Amino acid sequence: MTAGAEGTTAAGPGALPHLRIGLIRGDGIGPELVESAVTVLEAAVEGEARLTFHEEEGGAGAYVRHGTPLSAEALHRIEHDYAATLKGPVGLPEVRRPDGTEAGLLGGVLRGGLDAYANVRPVLGLPGVRTVLRPEVGPIDYVIVRENTEGLYLSRGLGVRNDRAAADQMLMTREGVERIARFAFELARTRSGAPADGVRRVTCVDKSNVLRSYAFFHDIVTEVSRGYPDVELDHRYADAAGHDLVADPAHFDVVVTENFLGDLLSDVGAATVGGLGMCPSGNIGERSAYFEPIHGSAPRIAGRDLANPVSQILSAALLADHVGLRTTGGRIRAAVASAFASQALALTASGSPTIGTRATAGVVCEHLG
Ligand code: IPM
Ligand code: MG
Repeated sequence: MTAGAEGTTAAGPGALPHLRIGLIRGDGIGPELVESAVTVLEAAVEGEARLTFHEEEGGAGAYVRHGTPLSAEALHRIEHDYAATLKGPVGLPEVRRPDGTEAGLLGGVLRGGLDAYANVRPVLGLPGVRTVLRPEVGPIDYVIVRENTEGLYLSRGLGVRNDRAAADQMLMTREGVERIARFAFELARTRSGAPADGVRRVTCVDKSNVLRSYAFFHDIVTEVSRGYPDVELDHRYADAAGHDLVADPAHFDVVVTENFLGDLLSDVGAATVGGLGMCPSGNIGERSAYFEPIHGSAPRIAGRDLANPVSQILSAALLADHVGLRTTGGRIRAAVASAFASQALALTASGSPTIGTRATAGVVCEHLG
């Protein structure tokens, strides 16, 4: 199915296409972030399409009210009725299942339920954004492609535990590794290579020196790479990758990795570009896709106008790209970049926008070209 075909209504001649977009406001800082992103998306899409937003209840609040973090009906609508869904962060630390895991998270139900197998996490350093890095490391512009439906997190809710021991299993399938590897190489073909040398490169990250499952991942990525002679294949063990993403980030173009490692390394990458609040993501499958910040719901700062909504605003830009609204996606990214470059937007040492959450959306709108 072509991306964005579902949820799109054919329009008459001269009329703008109409797209139905799902919306999950989420928990903690989620509602304020989603509000900011919708404000920017509505302003940016003018002239390219008409969007309607359709709210679905999801997360820890939904779990407390209904005993499930997302209803089966909502999952069905997200899959069938919307061109794509914009999701805020979910989960609250005090809302837990008896096994100790968080009850409000939607990773298992949405990523597994929609078979959204590719978790696409761009890490982009914007001029003007304060970061923890030395300036000499050079430009940062890579994408982590995190396998999203298997690996260690397939064990979500399925591990075993008694009072003396606990175990979660990591599972890799040939089909799962092949499709995420192909996704990464195809993505590399659409990009202009690593900032350091312009080489189109896929870096396979694993611990194939220690575990058989990772050796299997490594070997299959290597097999798939033979179909892409125009893209360089590169390997890193995950620990060294953590080091190099900080010490030599300009080397990276596309990083393909297992679910759990992708979760960890995307937060490492975020620290190098201004923090978690700068990083968007897309969860993309053959049938549907949803877009969300890479971080959690930060309940301690919720409602205090402290959260950085850029992660959510850039997630809306990825959503726009995915449903074919490339002008809109590009306009949003350019507006965010120009707002930081001109210092109309700036971050505090803890990653909050100096002008507050609400004003940030307004400033991004003012910079829309
Ligand atoms: C992420 C998040 C989620 C994950 C959490 C909130 C369950 O950290 O999207 O990276 O682990 O995948
Ligand atoms: Mg994470």
